[in-house]
Amino acid sequence: MLQELKEKKLIKNNQHSDYKLKYFVETYGCQMNEYDSELVGNILGDLGYSKSTKIEEADAIFLNTCSIREKAEETVHNRLDSLAYLKKKKKHLIIGVLGCMAQNLKDVLLESKPYVDVILGPDSYRKLPEIIKFRNSNINHIVDTKLSKHEIYDDLFPSRKEGINAWISIMRGCDKFCTFCIVPFTRGRERSRSISSIVKEAKNILKSGYQEITLLGQNVNSYKTPEGDFPILLDKLGKIKSIKRIRYTSPHPRDIDEDLLKIMVKHDNICNQIHLPLQAGSSRILKRMNRTYTKEEFLNLVDLIRKYIPDCGLSTDIIVGFPGETEEEFQETLEVVSKVKFDTAFMFKYSSRPGTKASHYTDHISEEVKQKRLQTLIEFQQNISLMNNRKRIGLNLDVLIEKESKKSANQWAGRIENNVWVIFDKKDGYKIGDIVNVNIIDAQGISLFGNIN
Ligand code: SAH
Ligand code: SF4
Ligand code: F3S
Repeated sequence: MLQELKEKKLIKNNQHSDYKLKYFVETYGCQMNEYDSELVGNILGDLGYSKSTKIEEADAIFLNTCSIREKAEETVHNRLDSLAYLKKKKKHLIIGVLGCMAQNLKDVLLESKPYVDVILGPDSYRKLPEIIKFRNSNINHIVDTKLSKHEIYDDLFPSRKEGINAWISIMRGCDKFCTFCIVPFTRGRERSRSISSIVKEAKNILKSGYQEITLLGQNVNSYKTPEGDFPILLDKLGKIKSIKRIRYTSPHPRDIDEDLLKIMVKHDNICNQIHLPLQAGSSRILKRMNRTYTKEEFLNLVDLIRKYIPDCGLSTDIIVGFPGETEEEFQETLEVVSKVKFDTAFMFKYSSRPGTKASHYTDHISEEVKQKRLQTLIEFQQNISLMNNRKRIGLNLDVLIEKESKKSANQWAGRIENNVWVIFDKKDGYKIGDIVNVNIIDAQGISLFGNIN
């Protein structure tokens, strides 16, 4: 690359030795993508690239993309179109598409975006150094979207942003094949990293000053290795007491068992919080979604969780307007939501994903009905979030200080164990990364407000 820049006199000779190539990675989609972008950052760092904070200044731009809903893909298409002009200004610029859209839409991208140089699926990031070398010899379009049964990047560690929470990917892929979901196609088969490599990464993270780790996987509790399964991994990590907080996301309700709950109870540093994706409240719809649990089984699981961890924070994902969902079945979703009383919910309109089983169903719901149901559900859940939070007024809760509040430089924001955000005035003697005891005085929307005790 430097050679090419020199030949094209893009770098004046006297500046040449000082010129450091810059990369810019923009991440869409889930935390798995956030983690992968950090892995890619590490690979590019080893190639001599430094991170740029301005996309216009980068010599290599990568969009790490998401295919989960149509809108996510549209956003990336628009973003790529808006970058085409940079390519005209800077001929040596590399534009790359990584992640789930690369996997899913390589043909469309090749055809409609000729200025995209590199298309790499989620299992192909090790190819980056080789690709950047090839690219120097002016070969157009390098595509690798083969999915691997084995790639777990066990020996590669991410170059993390500074902060309080560090993501650790512990497994990749998904074998569940929910009928609405593209992930099993974009991410391939389930595979787990070794316990020893995860423990090593967790210990390294501590040395860099992180206070909290979040274990990541599309089905984090399908984690399985010859050394043990998810509860055993959690037990090993829980014993490292210098990790102040351990979280994990997303588990599949079917794979939550008493062993896991017992380990959560055993270790104080494993947060009392579970993201428990419901998706729908009607057993008929759940069956059509291939979620493998019924409404009753889901409600029993919530009871079991609360038996072990009475104050467990619960959040969820819900889809409205799945093909064939009747008004009564939508009401069943509201009924489950009102019974469980989740602290927060991510709520989506069903989006048909080409290639998935549900996309072939013939009873799709109109956009108008989907929108109406989404609005109803959002308002319903907002009320519940607020009521849950109001019950916390008057309590004294431990909060990990994570950042300055967006609203005021005089305030901090942090989360309680149950994953709810608290905003409170700064106080001398404390800093970001400390756990402080906060008296809760108010609740608004999904946030709490309080004062350090
Ligand atoms: N593995 C996680 C979910 C990953 S995707 C799990 O099983 O919970 C995150 C969320 O996006 C899903 O929980 C689901 O609610 C939503 N989602 C996935 N596919 C969707 C689609 N086709 N339309 C709308 N929402 C979808
Ligand atoms: Fe998608 Fe279902 Fe796998 Fe989650 S469990 S990633 S929703 S197929
Ligand atoms: Fe999106 Fe892929 Fe994650 S489709 S949600 S980036 S696994």
